[in-house]
This record gives sequence, structure tokens and C-alpha cells, in this order.
Amino acid sequence: MMSNMRDHLATINEILHLLSSDELSKAGEIAEKRLGMTSLTSHGAEHMAKFMPKGMQQAGTSMHKAASQFALVAEEGEVLLAYKALQEITNACVTCHAGYRIR
Ligand code: HEC
Repeated sequence: MMSNMRDHLATINEILHLLSSDELSKAGEIAEKRLGMTSLTSHGAEHMAKFMPKGMQQAGTSMHKAASQFALVAEEGEVLLAYKALQEITNACVTCHAGYRIR
């Protein structure tokens, strides 16, 4: 899970880079693949979710949904709207971190 987390942060960093280089559809693509609903199977979310309290699962789900939503918005090409949608993703990171620890 911690290596997932490090990849999440690296992904956010890449997305910011792509947004600032006006490469919105690429930003959307990696958001979907590495954070969005598409990433769920590739990082074994179902396997890990079993060990999480309900609220934490919900925070995880809202992050994956926000990332998929971001991908759709980015595809439309409006950079300010894309930043706004990106903030919905980081919101989910912050919410979960505020409430949960591994131990
Ligand atoms: C479902 C809950 C949840 C979500 C959503 C979440 N995290 Fe985490 N994250 C955690 C937990 C729990 C830890 C471990 C914290 C601890 O035990 O101190 C963690 C740790 C981390 C770490 C530290 C990794 C390390 O090697 O020490 C990073 C970086 C991180 N998260 C980034 C992110 C980013 C970026 C996002 C959003 C894109 C995100 N996380 C979303 C729960 C979450």
C-alpha cells in the first residue's frame, strides 16, 4: 500500500507538470490509469480494501472517482476546470490522511 501511496504522489506531480505544459489529455490519461477507477484492479484495491475500515474505503473510492472525473474534464481541454477537478482528487488524499494511520 505504501508503494501505491508513493505512486499516487508521483502521479499528482506528473499531472501538475502536464497541466502546466498544456498537455491535458495526457494528464487525463495517467490520472485514469494510475488513480482512477481503471487503477483499481491493477493495484489490487479489492484485496486491500478488506482490511480497511468503512470510512477509509469510502475515502479511497471518492479518490478513484475524483480521478476518473478529472480524466473526463481534462479531456475537454479547459485548463482551469482541470485544476479544479484535480483539487477534488487531492481533497480525497487529505481527507483520508487526516483520519487514518496504518498504526
Ligand atoms: C483511503 C485512504 C487514503 C487515500 C485516499 C490516500 N491515502 Fe496516502 N496514505 C494513507 C495511509 C493510511 C497512509 C499511511 C499513513 C501512516 O500510517 O502514517 C498513507 C501514506 C501516504 C504517503 C507516505 C508513503 C510513505 O512511503 O511513507 C504518501 C506519499 C501518500 N499517502 C500520498 C497520497 C496521495 C498523493 C493521495 C491522493 C492522490 C493519497 N495518498 C490518498 C491513506 C490514504
